[in-house]
Parts: sequence; structure tokens; C-alpha cells
Amino acid sequence: MKFNTKTIHGGQHHDPSTGAVMVPVYQTSTFAQKSPGVHGGYEYSRAANPTRTALEDSLASIENGERGLAFSSGLAATDCVMKLLKPGDEVIAMDDLYGGTYRMFTRIYQDYGIVFHFVDMNDTAKFELLINDKTKLVWVETPTNPLMKLADIAAIAKITKAKNVLFAVDNTFATPYLQRPLDLGADIVMHSATKYLGGHSDVIAGALIVKDAALGEKLHFAQFATGGTLGPQDSYLVLRGIKTLHLRMQRHCENGVKVAQYLENHPKIKTVYYPGLENHPHYDIAKKQMIGGFGGMVSFTFTSGEKAEAIKFLENLRVFTLAESLGGVESLANHPALMTHASIPEPKRKEIGITDDLVRLSVGVEDAEDLIADIEQALL
Ligand SMILES: Cc1ncc(COP(=O)(O)O)c(C=O)c1O
Repeated sequence: MKFNTKTIHGGQHHDPSTGAVMVPVYQTSTFAQKSPGVHGGYEYSRAANPTRTALEDSLASIENGERGLAFSSGLAATDCVMKLLKPGDEVIAMDDLYGGTYRMFTRIYQDYGIVFHFVDMNDTAKFELLINDKTKLVWVETPTNPLMKLADIAAIAKITKAKNVLFAVDNTFATPYLQRPLDLGADIVMHSATKYLGGHSDVIAGALIVKDAALGEKLHFAQFATGGTLGPQDSYLVLRGIKTLHLRMQRHCENGVKVAQYLENHPKIKTVYYPGLENHPHYDIAKKQMIGGFGGMVSFTFTSGEKAEAIKFLENLRVFTLAESLGGVESLANHPALMTHASIPEPKRKEIGITDDLVRLSVGVEDAEDLIADIEQALL
């Protein structure tokens, strides 16, 4: 099956009891047993639920994995990966990450004795030097939130495979429509399914997908044992979202390029961060590993460098909504330093480039002309 067909049919079966074309919402916590321990594959919904199974099979299918797991949030999915580690283990992570991921690593797991190194993943020599026998995990987000930095997944996988270190990729921004980390050698794909997979800003959800069955089993055990699973109603919403992922992503990409090009030529704009622009420092990596487009996320700064100008712009928007999150059909705008990335200490934010005049746009699937007209009037 090709990708677009997989978004609709991958891992799906009509409901065996009724023939329902869409999987029903199995809104049940428990399942009747014929005799103690004798059941039809489902016992208790924390362990497994048929609606969640349908979503998990769809996730595995679209990411070219063997096992998918659905979580109550993206952070619950990341947290499950961290449960594979022990005190003293070391993690090498990209130096630009979603603020909540950074917060979990530095304010929860650092206190559990896990050591984190945040590095520029494009300096592969430096990154390789950091690997030692305590290194158990490499964590990468590409493109990153909010600075759209890219990491070369295949190049990193070559190193992690040789050194026998697990390699996880947060594929939230690209989605499998644009990038398939498992095909490029990563071991774990993570998603905030709240974003493009769900696609309609109506659910908080997360996902992990792996190729290796034993790793899938370990992660499932950690999920089952600690409980961060996705409920049946929310599983249904994400599954329904995935069915139009390819259609939405195509329009997100078309609109993303148009908005990025418009901003690039605007005198009030200093830098536009979009992997599809030829002057993006990682454009070559984007062309190599992103298939058929560059997504709908665009960040930019102002020529004035003024925080006040960024805030005025955000207050002036009418079609874009000023809100956290991204990846829904509607366009959203965000001020990372004050909103999504406020949990990163100011000096660290400045060091990595999350300045006070940085704005992040999640370009939706409306008419591009309306989006550009909105940006134009907000910049006046
Ligand atoms: C790239 C990325 N990863 C992970 C997360 C966390 O996901 P959630 O909010 O679903 O817990 C987010 C949320 O914004 C994100 O943007």
C-alpha cells in the first residue's frame, strides 16, 4: 500500500461484530471473561482497548513500523521512552527542543540521576565524541520547535547503530507524510498527535512507533505499568484525523511556502525560519530527508528586534488565532518566549536563538491569500 491509502486503510478492519466501517468507540474500562483468564484478547483498557488498537495499528502502518502505542499526550509518550533509562545513564539531545520536552529532561529526569547533553546535532564529530558506554539514548526533534533546525536522521542513525545507542526522533512537525525516521534508521518515532495527526485542535494525544518488536514490548510494558494511555474517544479522534493527513499536509506545505516567501520579502522582517527556503542553513538536509514538501510551520523575527513589535503583530491578527499548539486546520500564531517556550530559562533561550521578537506561525489550510492579507494588515 502507498502512503495515502495507508492513512485510510493501514492496519484497519471493519468491526467484526457489526461490519461498522469506522472502528466504534469502545467506551469501556473492562471486558467480560468466559472463565478466569479466558477472554477475547482484551481484559482492561489500560492494557489495550480495541479503538486504541485500531489507532496504534494505523500509526505503525503510516510510519512503516511494526508497533504503535498511543498515549494521553505527546509528553506521556516521551516520558515512556525515558522509563527505559536508569540513574547514571546519559542522553544526548538536540539543543533546540519543544520547551516541555526540555522541561521534562532538566526538571524531572535530571533529578533522577540521568545526565543530559544538549548539542548541535549537525556537528556530528562533536556529537560522536560525547558518546560513551553510559550513553543510552539520542533524542532529536527535526524540524525543531520553534527554530526549524534540522538534523540529518540517516547520518545520526549510522553513528547510533555503530555505537548501539537508541535513537528517537520527534516527528511531530514533519509527520510521516513528509519524513519517515524509521526508514532512515531511527529506532523510535515520537509524536505529539495533538498536532498534525489529530489535525483539528480537539484532542491531546501522543504516539510512539518502533520497528523492533522487543523494543515495542518494553515500551508497552512501561506504558501499561505506569498508565499514560489514550482513551477510546480520543483514540477515535486521532484515527479520524489520520484519514485526511495526506490531504491536509499537502495544503499546509503549499500555504507554508507562500507565507514564508511573503515574509522573506517584507521589509519589517529580518529572518524567516522555514526549511523550504533555499537560504535555510539546513536546506540540503531538508531536500534529502523530507519527501515532497516542507510543512506548515514558519517562524520569523523582526528587523527592529523589538518584542513590542512582535506582540503588536500578534494582537493585530484576525484570521490567525493567537494560541499555543499547532498542526490544526486553522492557522495559529504563537510567541515562543512568552508562551510555548517560557519554561526554558531566559539565558538558555537567548543562547539558542529564541529571541523576544520571534514569532511562530502554524500555517493552516485556509486560502493562502486570506492568510497573507491577514499578515500584511497585522504588520502595518
Ligand atoms: C515538537 C513537540 N513535541 C512534543 C510536544 C508535546 O506534546 P503534547 O502537548 O501533546 O504533550 C509538543 C507540543 O507542543 C511539540 O510541539
